[in-house]
Amino acid sequence: MAATSTPARPAPTAAGRMAAVNEMARLLRLLFEIEREFVRTAPTLVYRVGEPELKYLVCQHVWESAGHARFLRERGRELTTFGSTETVRDSLRRVFSEAMGRNNADPLVIAAGFYQVLKPALLAAYRHYLTVTDPLADWPSKKLVEEFVADEERHLREIAPWLQGVDAREWKLHLTQALDDLGGWLGQDTRLPLAATYDWSHARTPYTHPATCNRGKYPLCSSVFGFDPQEDPIVRPWLTDPKTDARVIRVMVYVWLMMEMDAIDYLATVFPDTAAAPFDLHYDLARHLWDESRHSQFGFRQLPRLGVDLMTVEHSLDLYNILVQMPPHERYAMMTMEFEANSFPTKALVMDRVRELNDFEADTLLAFDRNDEQNHVRYGHRWLPEMMALFGEKRPVEEFVQATRERFKQVAATYGGRTPHSLPASVRLTADKIVKLTGAA
Ligand SMILES: [Fe+2]
Ligand SMILES: [Fe+2]
Repeated sequence: MAATSTPARPAPTAAGRMAAVNEMARLLRLLFEIEREFVRTAPTLVYRVGEPELKYLVCQHVWESAGHARFLRERGRELTTFGSTETVRDSLRRVFSEAMGRNNADPLVIAAGFYQVLKPALLAAYRHYLTVTDPLADWPSKKLVEEFVADEERHLREIAPWLQGVDAREWKLHLTQALDDLGGWLGQDTRLPLAATYDWSHARTPYTHPATCNRGKYPLCSSVFGFDPQEDPIVRPWLTDPKTDARVIRVMVYVWLMMEMDAIDYLATVFPDTAAAPFDLHYDLARHLWDESRHSQFGFRQLPRLGVDLMTVEHSLDLYNILVQMPPHERYAMMTMEFEANSFPTKALVMDRVRELNDFEADTLLAFDRNDEQNHVRYGHRWLPEMMALFGEKRPVEEFVQATRERFKQVAATYGGRTPHSLPASVRLTADKIVKLTGAA
């Protein structure tokens, strides 16, 4: 019998057999890294834009993007070649680092870069994923990506009114060129290689935080907490004094909550400063950021309902101005181990007093605030040691926190109390005016 002479087929490799899965895992991996980088860099918009509502919106989008990244990682890990590390490749990272721009750039132009170039490209990437994946074989990813497409479309709709009339053509072209060099986020389009003269500005001058945060049209001050009812809106001893009218306490706690805008602004600075952190740290930080933005909204929405003109409520800048002078792990230590950890006894008394008013909405908001804050302290215990390690801090946590409290006092002596009142005492909201406004006098 003649020997059969079928040409030898190359030995099948595991990679070849699993090509379809591996290709989808590769795309999911890219999408995970892109969402991760958005979470790292978009928070720099928060303290640079001035409108509270826009800050809140960015916080919400960062949180939702963190959710996308988490689900992508979870699904990705079901596919063997997704990889077990969480590192972001340089080719993606440098686009996001560039997108942060300079700290003195027009924040709405920077926002347009994120929202009119990078995020539409992400939406296009998700849509591409849906067209190339098998809808039945890859059903679990498909369902996720369909949800993300809807979220991305909504993010673009929600941001659009804020970017109307913003001329960002030059900046958008700059970022579009960086993206075209990749052929889109997934390399799905024809690559247009970058000109040799392309200027990666972040490589020349790394991004730094501005020395102060932006509160747009609102009046400013150093702090809303004080001891003089003719000067300050929140008189500390009044909060715990049983003789204070509960209606006064309610307005004061809403001012306190609204000023958690401080927490939004300085917490947002921690993301880009901890680029090497595990993703779960940024995930919890994103949740923390969004929680604080909701707490601030409690005050921002309720104060006008109680008759307060928001243009008379000065915004305090001290915490941002002081903390931004300290390294990120010290910022985070002050936030979670000092401000948040020590806020519970006073807030408990405040909650009991507000309950006298039978104001179900106020009780609900304060209860959720308390619950969220308990989680924030937990995040602090979980992540502060990791953040300390990122910066080579080897002292025991307690010793480090104690030293940081002392350092905060020193830095505050230089950078605190520097923001004069925008409004004369006769115009700004003070404790005395709250008494009159509430009819408590
Ligand atoms: Fe809060
Ligand atoms: Fe908090």
